[in-house]
Amino acid sequence: MSTAPTTRRFSGLSARARWVVGAIAAVTVLVALVVLARWAWGLAGVQDFVARYPGVATGATRTGTPAWVDILHFFNLFLMALMIKSGLMIHRTRRPAAHWTRRGRALLARSRTRPATITLEQWFHVSLDLTWLVVGATFVVLLFTSGRWVRLVPTSWDVVPNALSVVLQYLSLHWPQESTWVAYNALQMLTYFVTVFVLAPISAATGLRLSELWPKQAAINRYYPIERARAVHFPTMWLFAAFIVVHVAMVMATGAVANLNHMFGARPGDSLVGVLVFTASAVVVAGAWLAARPVLLRPLAALTGKVTR
Ligand code: HEM
Ligand code: HEM
Repeated sequence: MSTAPTTRRFSGLSARARWVVGAIAAVTVLVALVVLARWAWGLAGVQDFVARYPGVATGATRTGTPAWVDILHFFNLFLMALMIKSGLMIHRTRRPAAHWTRRGRALLARSRTRPATITLEQWFHVSLDLTWLVVGATFVVLLFTSGRWVRLVPTSWDVVPNALSVVLQYLSLHWPQESTWVAYNALQMLTYFVTVFVLAPISAATGLRLSELWPKQAAINRYYPIERARAVHFPTMWLFAAFIVVHVAMVMATGAVANLNHMFGARPGDSLVGVLVFTASAVVVAGAWLAARPVLLRPLAALTGKVTR
């Protein structure tokens, strides 16, 4: 007896059901942790711990957020949104909307074979990626030359107890007494550090391995097969997505107006500048997300190569 169609229908349902069950489980765990943390807050030992490690790691202070941070943060967020969209397009597309063949010789691939042809979706993704690498490299260079790196890179082991203390403060619903204009708390420091210096390089290294830019004959390919890169590249997107959801939720829950002034208005305080610039930025990103369709991508791709259906 064949049960294939029914199984397919149920597996479609169960995928959604799995999301619902996952969300309910996550909320339940979060509520349980809040109850536990509020109970622990009353203990003398916990009070001593929080007093000893209020939340900012040693050496993390550097006042102010200059305009270059805001501008690069915006470009990063713009490109990241489209990279997720184009990555999902690659993941889901069974029939590519077109193919793109580069003109002239390859820049990096030292092959004398015919020019590589990629799908329109891959062209879109890789074009964004290369721009993102330039934005990221500029950010890292300015971070270190300006001295701002002390906000993101831990230099003292007390970042660990301080981050734990911040987790306790958030979970027990006692928002840490802090000013992120002066320094990030240890939890922010660790998550920004991992995003910039671990997650981004992993997605770049695995993405480049998947791309036509990677030399096909490189000796390292024996130890770094394309399948390994693919197995890591896709889950990395979920880690980025998880970071963004929690990051934006925390930005909004811990003093949205002041936070948006820092990162979208390069200023402290409670004026509405940051909110307005953020709203305009969100409209631009949403517009680009909606506009990124084959009908617009085809003529864009034709500027740099040959597009065939
Ligand atoms: C709607 C989207 C986003 C909003 C509203 C937002 C907002 C913010 C804000 C307000 C801060 C400063 C936090 C503070 O002063 O306490 C910040 C910092 C930061 N965000 Fe975002 N963010 C967004 C998307 C992203 C994305 C997509 C990434 C990377 C994948 C990212 C990475 C970072 C990093 C690394 C910092 C620290 C930068 C530094 O100070 O040098 N953000 N963000
Ligand atoms: C320098 C950075 C990156 C490069 C060079 C790159 C390159 C690539 C390439 C060449 C592919 C096509 C793989 C194939 O056709 O099998 C791909 C797929 C993909 N990329 Fe990236 N990528 C980068 C960063 C990112 C980022 C930051 C994200 C999301 C946050 C992302 C999400 C995806 C997704 C979802 C796929 C589809 C994977 C699959 O179907 O298994 N990529 N990437």
